[in-house]
Amino acid sequence: MVTISGMSTHTDTLASMAVAPIGAGMMVGLGTGRAASRAIRALAARAAAEGLSVRCVATSDASAVLARSLGLHVVDFAGVERVDYIFDGADEVDEALRMLKGRGGAMTREKIVARAASRRVYLIDESKLVRRLGEKFPLPVEVLPFAMGAVQAALGRTGLRAAVREEEGGGAYVTDNGCAVLDVALGEGMEPEGVDALLNDTPGVIGHGLFLDEADEVLIENSAGSVERRTRV
Ligand code: A5P
Repeated sequence: MVTISGMSTHTDTLASMAVAPIGAGMMVGLGTGRAASRAIRALAARAAAEGLSVRCVATSDASAVLARSLGLHVVDFAGVERVDYIFDGADEVDEALRMLKGRGGAMTREKIVARAASRRVYLIDESKLVRRLGEKFPLPVEVLPFAMGAVQAALGRTGLRAAVREEEGGGAYVTDNGCAVLDVALGEGMEPEGVDALLNDTPGVIGHGLFLDEADEVLIENSAGSVERRTRV
């Protein structure tokens, strides 16, 4: 069930709402992408203005670099067991707050950190609300290069169409984990839960962009900068 609260109209509301629940001493998960970067900047501004002391774990090398450049204390996630709070972006969100993520290729680390987090908040603009996942974007699937042929064949046998992602200028796209990405078309009538189970059970798939249970809260920004909060209850 999803509750919808009223609009808020403060300036740069999205980023400030994302970091408002963060308190001293927290371990904070930093998402990846444009919306998450705005929140990283807002967190750094709060830390500087209030002397707020937090430790952070980053879901991508880019977010770690940005956070450190702003003076935030970023620690290696390999030594961390629990995260208090994560903010991140998303590419698509449906009515049940199920999400498709990974346009930026960081979905594997994003999900690992989200699953370790006590509270998970996602930041989007209203264009990302969809009737069904896969409506606007393919589903990113991170694949161990060793397994690429086998994974493509396994997905092909189930009728899923997958394209190997390339860099904009050409050449293979490589994630922070040194892996490749398959962009998988999700057709009308494909149940996300079924695709999620299939991918979770395919050796060589190390992560994918279906986040079906992760969102505790989604903050939705409209073109005027106002933000609506939707909460999973
Ligand atoms: C990174 O791999 C993605 O999951 C991002 O969180 C997602 O693409 C949203 O990014 P933007 O906020 O840049 O749209």
